Amino acid sequence: MAMVNVKTTYVEKTIKENAASLLGEVEKAHHTTLSKTGPGNEFLGWVDLPDRMDETLKAIETTAARLRSVADVLVVVGIGGSYLGAKAVLETLDGYFKKPSGMDVVFAGHHLSAAYMEELRDYLADKPFAINVISKSGTTTEPAVAFRFLKALLESKVGKAEAAERIVATTDATKGALRELAEREGYDTFVIDDDIGGRYSVFTPVGLLPVACRGHDVSGLLGGAKAMMKTLNEKGDTEALYRYVSTRQALYQAGRKVELFVYYEPKLSFVAEWWKQLFGESEGKDGKGLFVAGAAFTTDLHSLGQYLQDGERHLFETVVNVARPLSTLTVATDKDDLDNLNYLAGKSVHEVNERAMEGTLLAHAEGGTPSVVIELDRLDAPHVGGLLYFFMMACAVSGYVLGVNPFDQPGVEAYKQNMFALLEKPGFEDRGKALREKLSKQDD
Ligand code: PA5
Repeated sequence: MAMVNVKTTYVEKTIKENAASLLGEVEKAHHTTLSKTGPGNEFLGWVDLPDRMDETLKAIETTAARLRSVADVLVVVGIGGSYLGAKAVLETLDGYFKKPSGMDVVFAGHHLSAAYMEELRDYLADKPFAINVISKSGTTTEPAVAFRFLKALLESKVGKAEAAERIVATTDATKGALRELAEREGYDTFVIDDDIGGRYSVFTPVGLLPVACRGHDVSGLLGGAKAMMKTLNEKGDTEALYRYVSTRQALYQAGRKVELFVYYEPKLSFVAEWWKQLFGESEGKDGKGLFVAGAAFTTDLHSLGQYLQDGERHLFETVVNVARPLSTLTVATDKDDLDNLNYLAGKSVHEVNERAMEGTLLAHAEGGTPSVVIELDRLDAPHVGGLLYFFMMACAVSGYVLGVNPFDQPGVEAYKQNMFALLEKPGFEDRGKALREKLSKQDD
């Protein structure tokens, strides 16, 4: 079976016909991406990256082994594209309760909760820890605040010299405060190349170092991405890619403004978060783009189910289904059958979940919410690598079909600049003054 299949069984015929008529445009957009001739073409380093990672991968594995030898916990400091890729892979490959043999990996700098930082300090109190601080720009406030706090904490525990051995910075080759700080303090560093934006950086050291520290199969992850890259870009086996892109664009053109990423395996919850950033930041501009959201089924059928079945008809679902069971656990027979569940006895829980999915797909289609089903053969490192690469290419191609630059994020900058100004960062005085005036004139 192919790594990824896309099925449009639960999409109306007219949408499928419209999607078919978009295929020429989709193919053109794919070629624009590969030939690097579209807007944002200076950010296409990720396209063939899985082929160019051998040397870096060795360095990542060496650094991971070194960090593992001195610390039990890795604190990964980053936000947005400097956080979600690693988090998505770890949540997917980790056991729910049993972690692999490597380091415990925890995250910080992905929000500004003071309570979280204090509780993290308490959690780390009796644990040897290391830090991987990640910021492409090297100036983002959330990770900078967390890193200042954690750096001081580590230095107070093990001294400045040992702390410097336990801190690895992943950042721009030359620019930004983090690069300067890392060089002054003598930290090991990994580079985020200029031609790779945050949300496309999961196969750079941004995503791979934390995954390697945890002890997962980083080569397998990258191997899966490479296999998908070759399938799509070299072998020309693009049916799944083009079907997904053309169908979501046809649905959007037909007034479906929301794409809901649905999964029946909760390990995918952060793939959903990563996917939201990827598509939301890439397509949401110039007054256009699908609004992207995520939902865990069957859990959220007990909260969102009513709306999806019966509410405003402005959304569609993209269901990621893992075909191979992760477990063969079955429902047991109970001689008393007081819970009336013996009709399920002998069935695997996976099968129950599958029937729930099929029933939901049919019900939602009947209620007017169409679904695209992306079938992933299994949930191991290569397949996760393949799936993430598939989505990155789908996003780039889809952005070009939509007519936007899928590689910039001017909207993210707006809030960052306002925050700098309101926090009175030097250089932002005029903007700060204007914003404070605006705030003082606000009504209740
Ligand atoms: O995609 C983006 O630009 C953002 O989500 C960034 O990834 C996020 O703001 C973190 O930026 P940086 O890596 O520069 O700290």
